Amino acid sequence: MPRTLAVQAPAAGVRLITLQRPEALNALTTELLGELAAELALAEQDAETRAVVLTGSRKAFAAGADIKEMAERDLVGILEDPRVAHWQRIASFPKPLIAAVNGFCLGGGCELAMHADILVADEDACFGQPEINLGIMPGAGGTQRLLRAVGKSLAMQMVLTGQPIDARHAQRAGLVSEVTLPELTVERALEIARAIAGKAPLAVRLAKEALLKAQDTDLASGLRFERHAFTVLAGTADRAEGIRAFQEKRRPEFTGR
Ligand code: HXC
Repeated sequence: MPRTLAVQAPAAGVRLITLQRPEALNALTTELLGELAAELALAEQDAETRAVVLTGSRKAFAAGADIKEMAERDLVGILEDPRVAHWQRIASFPKPLIAAVNGFCLGGGCELAMHADILVADEDACFGQPEINLGIMPGAGGTQRLLRAVGKSLAMQMVLTGQPIDARHAQRAGLVSEVTLPELTVERALEIARAIAGKAPLAVRLAKEALLKAQDTDLASGLRFERHAFTVLAGTADRAEGIRAFQEKRRPEFTGR
């Protein structure tokens, strides 16, 4: 039983994972990251799970890596940090991951949110990489993913000043796709997850992989990958079902085959 997370199944095909360290604004300990990686591994193995929503509390999605824990690690401790493996497992989750962000989304918390494929935020949320104030820098992909999400100038500004941006700014910059009222953030993320859960799982999986390729490969390689993935889907029963359902003017029933 995880101690720092709550896991629910609020709708068919959808898992909701809630970070639960309210006493520390969901600061990310090694234990929490390990439990999150383990829950995502379970969600990956479970064929019924088609999309996952990750959220925190109304006050904080997560206020960063746990500073108390970080203070205990010296250079060798950081070099051998077990959290690196947890981050890698979270990053390689192949199903759609949607972050529902309320409140503070800072440091490692912002880096965690950027591991999600889709970000929905409440209008009072704030996003920032304040590590520079502690004499350090982002260390869980923040410099790389933030620059890809918001571009060079804003990423430099956020990382080098440590100053956060609000949700509307994050949306204009492309970090967040939708901004909601605080009480509706999780519901909206679940709605998006339910919509995805109704699609053909193999098509969703390959589409996610192809979109992620666009971030770290050249155009020609990305287009080649897209072509291969598109061709693979031609052999699936769900493609045949999707096209047949369209022609018969009914809803498709996808099976993941
Ligand atoms: C540990 C934290 C924490 C954190 C908050 N808390 N953030 N504990 N690690 N990152 C704890 C506080 O110590 C406090 O506990 C409780 O949560 C409530 O926080 P307050 O500061 O009292 O709340 P508030 O005044 O509302 O201020 C909220 C805040 C502030 C602005 C978010 O807490 C803050 O600045 N937090 C640190 C943000 C940060 O620097 N994040 C980056 C961390 S470095 P007590 O017991 O004292 O009452 C990082 C590196 C990632 O993330 C690298 C990845 C490899």
